[in-house]
Amino acid sequence: MNPDFPARLERFASVDSTQAIVRAWLDAGCPEVAVAVSDVQTAGRGRLDRSWTAPSGAALLCSIGFRPVLAARHAWRLGATVSLAMLDAAEDVAGLRDGRLALKWPNDLVVVMEEGQLRKVAGVLGESVLDADGSVASAVVGVGVNADWAAADFPPALASSMSSLRELAGGRPIDREALLDGFLARLEPRYQALTDDRFDAGAWSARQATTGNDVVVEVGGGRSAVVGRASGVDPETGALWVRIDGRDVAVDAGDVTRCQLAG
Ligand code: BTN
Repeated sequence: MNPDFPARLERFASVDSTQAIVRAWLDAGCPEVAVAVSDVQTAGRGRLDRSWTAPSGAALLCSIGFRPVLAARHAWRLGATVSLAMLDAAEDVAGLRDGRLALKWPNDLVVVMEEGQLRKVAGVLGESVLDADGSVASAVVGVGVNADWAAADFPPALASSMSSLRELAGGRPIDREALLDGFLARLEPRYQALTDDRFDAGAWSARQATTGNDVVVEVGGGRSAVVGRASGVDPETGALWVRIDGRDVAVDAGDVTRCQLAG
């Protein structure tokens, strides 16, 4: 275990957004890997400028700052790498069997319910600054995990589409510090592999909940939808492959407003 991983780790009671904290650190020259964790965020952000909120004590809210050796076309792999590390840590801390949690393209961690419905357990937000030479100068990946969040306290509007590690552990309290420790321990080798050009494409593909299922993917700000059977993901581009009339169509993650299983 590298004692310099992470190079910086700070915990806060309340911040606007851990994304903003870590971005400011990187802009001020802070070395990688830098991690900010907060109990509460007053201006937490999700994908597509959505807000992201969680009550005190309920979620693991953190952002990880990188200065990776990584081509800009592979910047999305940072989010995928963080997702894979968190997936394993979350299953471990909640005592879940391997594979109980899955990835939902492009960036969610979900649980597959018995009736096949997906419920969101965590979201990941990747924000990169690119160099003119086509590489990633720095990046901040934020992750919000519904950790020690009792179902009775879920916001009514989201209760049917979300879950938490606490619920999946049968109501047992979840230690957010143990989740953070488990995550960082798994992130270190995965990040090393990524920057050595050994991205774990196998795990990233294998753990996609969408593959083999009918999907509806809203693109172009919700103005149109791609409807078909998800046939896999592309480890080179990060795209979702959707089979329509026997032909595979690639959907770019940057175009997606929403991806849902059909039916
Ligand atoms: C999404 O599913 O839309 C991504 C959500 C990412 C939320 C996390 S919480 C920690 C970090 N700080 C933020 O403001 N956002 C990310």
